[in-house]
Amino acid sequence: MSGAVSFLQRAPSNPATHPELTESLKASVAAKANAALQLLRGVVAELGGQGEVTFANSFGAEDMVLADLILRHRLPIEIFSLDTGRLPSETYALIGEVEERYETRLKIYFPDAGAVEEYVRREGMNAFYRSVDLRKACCQIRKVEPLKRALAGKKAWITGLRAAQAVTRSGLPVREMDEGNGLEKLNPLSDWSEAEVWAYVRLNEVPYNALHDQFYPSIGCAPCTRAIAVGEDIRAGRWWWEDPASKECGLHVKD
Ligand code: ADX
Ligand code: SF4
Repeated sequence: MSGAVSFLQRAPSNPATHPELTESLKASVAAKANAALQLLRGVVAELGGQGEVTFANSFGAEDMVLADLILRHRLPIEIFSLDTGRLPSETYALIGEVEERYETRLKIYFPDAGAVEEYVRREGMNAFYRSVDLRKACCQIRKVEPLKRALAGKKAWITGLRAAQAVTRSGLPVREMDEGNGLEKLNPLSDWSEAEVWAYVRLNEVPYNALHDQFYPSIGCAPCTRAIAVGEDIRAGRWWWEDPASKECGLHVKD
């Protein structure tokens, strides 16, 4: 019995978060990390330092790669996060760990309290399960409106979006004009694979959300995120009751 337990303890819990660190994977990660760093440095040089360029950190694995690049290399890029009030406890634990590890204080935005109260009193605590419209209304109050405040007065924002994450993200450029928000948008990890993200995390001992090891490749709010089964799409656990073609929360729509 004790032999079986120690075998289980030794076995990596989730192969997706423990890619085999082959020489070719290490080389591609080193090259892509260097390209991302050059892109970030170039944008800061072009658009200005602290205050002009801001990074939207959701504390997912991709964002931890970017946070590590920014904080390790002391790039003058602001880091902000949207606390919807419904995040998993593991995400709050990671926020504290990041602040301690990198000796930094993160800029957290909260939703407008009056808007949340009004929505919840009218529609109920978990109204987002009832319709796409109610779900989008909740995302609008808890994410999109605070994002507008976070981006006000900035020249560019940085995200951890990857093209391979979803049909809605295919063809994602590294740099684009975000017309809807009226500033530039940089997606430095656009061409990274999931294995490259995890290889960077492992090789640089980057802290990450404990849920990733429990088969949560994509993490948002607790009630709208579940673990995925083997073979399922990496965003299958986000708003799993909705059609994949409409599964964006409004942070990344183009208009
Ligand atoms: S979402 O639109 O479905 O919620 P996803 O979780 O894939 O987005 O994250 C994509 C990118 O959006 C992240 O890499 C990050 O840049 C930004 N983002 C998402 N959620 C947040 C958040 N709560 N705070 C800050 N940025 C976020
Ligand atoms: Fe609301 Fe769910 Fe959107 Fe979070 S992800 S803001 S809980 S609908």
